[in-house]
Amino acid sequence: MTRLLHEVAEAAALLLAGELVGFPTETVYGLGADARNAAAVAGIFAAKGRPHFNPLIAHYASAEAAFADVAADARAQKLAAACWPGPLTLVLPRRAECQVDLLAGAGLDTLAVRVPAHPLAQALLRAVAVPVVAPSANRSGQVSPTTAQHVLAGLSGRIAAVLEGGACAVGVESTVLDLSQPGPPRLLRPGGVPLEALQALLGPILAQPEAAPTLRSPGMLLSHYAPALPVRLGASTVAAEEALLAFGSALPGAGLVWNLSERGDSTEAAARLFAGLRWLDAEGAQLGLTRIAVMPVPEAGLGAAINDRLARAAAPREEAQP
Ligand code: TXA
Ligand code: MG
Repeated sequence: MTRLLHEVAEAAALLLAGELVGFPTETVYGLGADARNAAAVAGIFAAKGRPHFNPLIAHYASAEAAFADVAADARAQKLAAACWPGPLTLVLPRRAECQVDLLAGAGLDTLAVRVPAHPLAQALLRAVAVPVVAPSANRSGQVSPTTAQHVLAGLSGRIAAVLEGGACAVGVESTVLDLSQPGPPRLLRPGGVPLEALQALLGPILAQPEAAPTLRSPGMLLSHYAPALPVRLGASTVAAEEALLAFGSALPGAGLVWNLSERGDSTEAAARLFAGLRWLDAEGAQLGLTRIAVMPVPEAGLGAAINDRLARAAAPREEAQP
């Protein structure tokens, strides 16, 4: 039985005992494990049904704690000062004394680190005082969870507990930036911190994925955020048998509508994205609808991250499941 917790201390005790615990961050709910504990880390892959070569993000209460495990250059220090705590993940070289289990990093000589801002995530990380690795708390290939109920829907019976923290404010995962290679930084995943904000701090950033993205950031696999119903992007009309994921004023004629943001605000839309895909999926199936049509979302602000997730949701399913 997976327990729904309301006390940070209980969640901390379970983590330190090697259990898996879902917890809220400002982006999405994470599935946490003590990053030093190889058995617990392996348990994450088992619970998620996730391929073992996917490296995990290690979460810390402070930049100081994170930079004890990875080597931070001046660029990393600058980003940490400006963006942490917050929805930014930095990929940096592991230090020799890094505490994080090698499996958690998929055997790479780099490690993704992040300092989340959610007050409960902060309280939990301070309470355990060890790095906590946490992928999004969903089954592999499914939509990321933005409430504790979403976590239970996917992982109930497979993990010890979930810490209740309400709905996530940002709603899309953190931006992942690779600072581990020579040359300009590379954006591995658009997310909660817009690329424009990072460019303003660091100058040029390579925004195109490398030729073999699955090696550097398996989260870039196509069809990584798939609802059950097929997804049709760029809808300018909608059919009666389609559910509609709207942005701005909704197209007429849909069988079912979830509006990401009536006022066309990409920040509001990000926070409502994953909950909307889940809701359209569940309600649409009950109504016998056959597809989710998606209205265009402009790229500005969090629009880039939203469009990235939507492109994956619409990608061919054969490549999806590991
Ligand atoms: O907002 C988030 O980032 C959430 C919350 C829970 O923190 N976590 C999350 O984790 O989205 P996950 O495991 O679903 O996605 C981690 C991403 C993947 O795209 C993975 O490939 C990439 O980060 N990543 C992790 N370590 C990496 C590394 N050493 N090099 C390159 N990419 C890495
Ligand atoms: Mg994920």
